[in-house]
Amino acid sequence: MSVPPPNPLINDPPAWLAEGAPHLWLPYTQMQTTPMALPVVKTDGVRLTLADGRELVDGISSWWTAAHGYNHPHIREAVTAQLEKMPHVMLGGLAHEPACRLATRLSEKLPGDLAHVFFSESGSVSVEIAMKIAVQYWINQGKKGRTRFVSFKGGYHGDTLATMSVCDPDEGMHTLFKGAIAEQFICELPSDAEKTAALDTFLGEHAHEVAAVVTEPLVQGAGGMRFHSPETLKTLRALCDRHGVLLILDEIFTGFGRTGTMFACEQAGIVPDIVTLSKALTGGTMALAATVATARVYE
Ligand SMILES: Cc1ncc(COP(=O)(O)O)c(C=O)c1O
Repeated sequence: MSVPPPNPLINDPPAWLAEGAPHLWLPYTQMQTTPMALPVVKTDGVRLTLADGRELVDGISSWWTAAHGYNHPHIREAVTAQLEKMPHVMLGGLAHEPACRLATRLSEKLPGDLAHVFFSESGSVSVEIAMKIAVQYWINQGKKGRTRFVSFKGGYHGDTLATMSVCDPDEGMHTLFKGAIAEQFICELPSDAEKTAALDTFLGEHAHEVAAVVTEPLVQGAGGMRFHSPETLKTLRALCDRHGVLLILDEIFTGFGRTGTMFACEQAGIVPDIVTLSKALTGGTMALAATVATARVYE
């Protein structure tokens, strides 16, 4: 078991860090060379407090989850009150008021008839659920072989095996994981006439094997904050309609006001067939995600 190298930013690491760090495997990190992680003991608003009392401004708000700041009193009170009553209860044959209220409120806030909410526990899983719903949509219509996905360079949709397959091929390490992840169609977003024509032609040839097109609307977040216009999204919706392919919008990063409207797709005036939500959904207090489908898909 290797102990992480000392961190020049920490003078005197607390005992729990020195003892626990060799057992802790951090995400996106080469553990052999990374310095000891910074010990956080408290949060408040935009700030993290370290064990030695120093304060840091968390400019990434815990990977975009703490959208209202840490320890927001309203969220804290709601979570505490709920814990006093009952914690998580499975939705297997059971229902409870918070799940019903949240599903109803999400349906009211989302555009169009996105009104059928499937809850899960992480963004990646909600995207996997969207992919499975899309595949099953075609199975239920008696259409065989529509199991592949079109996604875009620069995209990021998660780190589980299926979601990796629709991420940017370099960032998603498609070459390294060849054989372990499904091979999808990774295209260019239709951001100009030439790329639109290329995608149009591509879907014309491959729609019969495609379950859905998947993208992050307006901003590809983890892929480097790459923006595209609402026009591009409108084009994407039109191409999906023309070729009879479902459109999945991954609003895990953009949802809940991140781009100025409640959901990014509103700026293009389009409604996806399936949308995924997470991150800001709980203000970063717990793991929760939702996959929401339109009436057509649900039925
Ligand atoms: C657009 C998008 N989709 C999916 C995910 C995966 O979410 P999670 O980390 O909760 O699995 C992320 C996480 O950054 C994301 O930004």
